[in-house]
Amino acid sequence: MDKLVIHGGLPLHGTVRASGAKNAALPILIATLLAPGEHVLDNVPELADVSLTLSLLGRIGCPSLVPDDGGSRVRLDTWRIAFSEAPYDVVRKMRASVLALGPLLARQGQARVSLPGGCAIGVRPVDQHLKGLEALGCRFELSGGYVNGRVDHLRGGEVRFDMPTVTGTENVMMAAVLADGVSVLHNAAREPEVVDLARFLRAMGARIEGEGTDTITVDGVPALRPTRTPYSIMPDRIEAGTYLVAGAITGGAVTVERAPVHALAPVLDALRAAGCEVSADGVGPDGAGRIHLRREGPLAPVSIETQPHPGFPTDMQAQWMALMSLAEGDSVIRETIFENRFMHAAELMRMGARIEPDRDRAVVRGVRRLEGATVMATDLRASASLVLAGLAAHGSTEMLRLYHLDRGYERLEAKLAALGARVRRVPDDVRVVRVVEPDEDRAAG
Ligand code: EPZ
Repeated sequence: MDKLVIHGGLPLHGTVRASGAKNAALPILIATLLAPGEHVLDNVPELADVSLTLSLLGRIGCPSLVPDDGGSRVRLDTWRIAFSEAPYDVVRKMRASVLALGPLLARQGQARVSLPGGCAIGVRPVDQHLKGLEALGCRFELSGGYVNGRVDHLRGGEVRFDMPTVTGTENVMMAAVLADGVSVLHNAAREPEVVDLARFLRAMGARIEGEGTDTITVDGVPALRPTRTPYSIMPDRIEAGTYLVAGAITGGAVTVERAPVHALAPVLDALRAAGCEVSADGVGPDGAGRIHLRREGPLAPVSIETQPHPGFPTDMQAQWMALMSLAEGDSVIRETIFENRFMHAAELMRMGARIEPDRDRAVVRGVRRLEGATVMATDLRASASLVLAGLAAHGSTEMLRLYHLDRGYERLEAKLAALGARVRRVPDDVRVVRVVEPDEDRAAG
C-alpha cells in the first residue's frame, strides 16, 4: 500500500483546476442504464470510485471505453443488460452502487442489489430509497444481505422523504423518469449534484421540473435515448473547497479554475469570515468560474453547522476542522448529517490540535502550530483534512491508507505540487528523509 509524505509549513501559491464532481459522475454514469445505446460523457474524473462504477456497469453487461491518455471523455455501451445485479463485492467498497436499483427496476422490472452496509461515518441505511421506489409500484424483499426488487407496472406517485437524502432522491428520480404518469418528490435533496443528474436525464428526454428545490416533479416518458452530444459533468465543489482551504490553512494564495462558484457559497462565506480574501471571476453560463483566495492575516475562529444544501456541506466539515485547529480562538463544529463523522479529530489531536468532540458537536481550541506526525486516514474527507493539516504543520507528515483519498481526489499530488507543496506518494515501507540543502541549512542557522 502507499502513503503520502508531506513536508509542511510552506504557504501554497498557484492555480489548480477542479475536476469533474465525483458525486455527480457516479449517478450520471449509472443513469446511462436507463437508455439503450452509446453514451458519451465528458469531464469524468479519474477516481477509484469512478473505476468501480464502470466495473459495476461492465458486470451488468454495459462495457465502457476510457481514453488511454488519462483524458476525461468516457464512452458507454448500454444496449444490453445481462445481469440486473449489483453484487456485494462492489457495493461494500462503494455504497453509491445502490444507485443501480432505480435504473435496473425502470429498465428491467427487477433488480438484486446488495445492501451497502455501514461505513466509517455512519450506518448509511437505504430505507428512504425503498420507501420512494415502493410509492412507484416497486416491491422489495430483503434476503441474504440483498435487496430483491420487482415491479410489474412502474407508475407515477407521491414520495415524501423523511429527510433530504441525496442518493435517495437520485434513485427515485431515475425510476420516475420512465414511470407511467407523474411523480412528485417532496423533501427532495437540493444538492448541485442532484441538479446535474436531472440535467443529464433531461438531455436524454426526461421531463423533470424543480430540481434544486425540495419538490421535484417528474412526468414519466415511455423511453429515453442517449444524448446526441457529450454531456459534461459539473465540477467538483468539494474538491475545489478542499484546495481553497489548503490555501487558507497555509497562509498562501490559491486560485481554483472551473470551480462551481454558486454551489460553494456557504464555504466561501465561512472562509471570508475566517479572515481570507475570497473573490470570483470569469463565471460562465454553467456557473463555473475562477475562485481566488488569499490569507495574510490571522485565522479567525468560525463556528459552523453542517446542513443539507444550501447549508454548509458535511463533506467539507473535516477540512474545516483542520483549518479551525489553527484559528486564533475557539470554534464549535456541529455535524447534523452523519452520526460518526469526527474520526479525523483524534488524528488531528495527534498533530497537536486541541479538539473536544462530544456527540454531534466538537469544540476546536485554536493552537499556534501543528506538528507533523504519522497519521491514519479513516474515510475520504477525514483523509483530506489530515493532508491539509500536514501542509500547514511544522515538519513532515506521513498519511497511511491512501486509498481513501484516491476515491475522491484526482491527481492530488500533482495538483498540490502545482501549488508549491512538497508532497510524495511512496510505498508504506519506504522511509522518506528530508534532504537539507546547504542554503536551507544556513537559513535554519
Ligand atoms: C451523499 O451520500 C454523498 N455521496 C455523500 O458524500 C454526502 O456526504 C451525503 O450525500 C450528504 O451530502 C454521494 O453522493 C455518492 P444521504 P448519501 O442519503 O446519499 C440518512 C463523500 O464524501 N438516510 O444524503 O448516502 C443518512 O443516514 C460522500 O463524497 C437515511 O436515514 O447521503 C444520513 O444521516 C460521503 N435513510 C442522511 O440521511 C436513507 O434511506 C443524509 O444521507 C438515506 C439516508
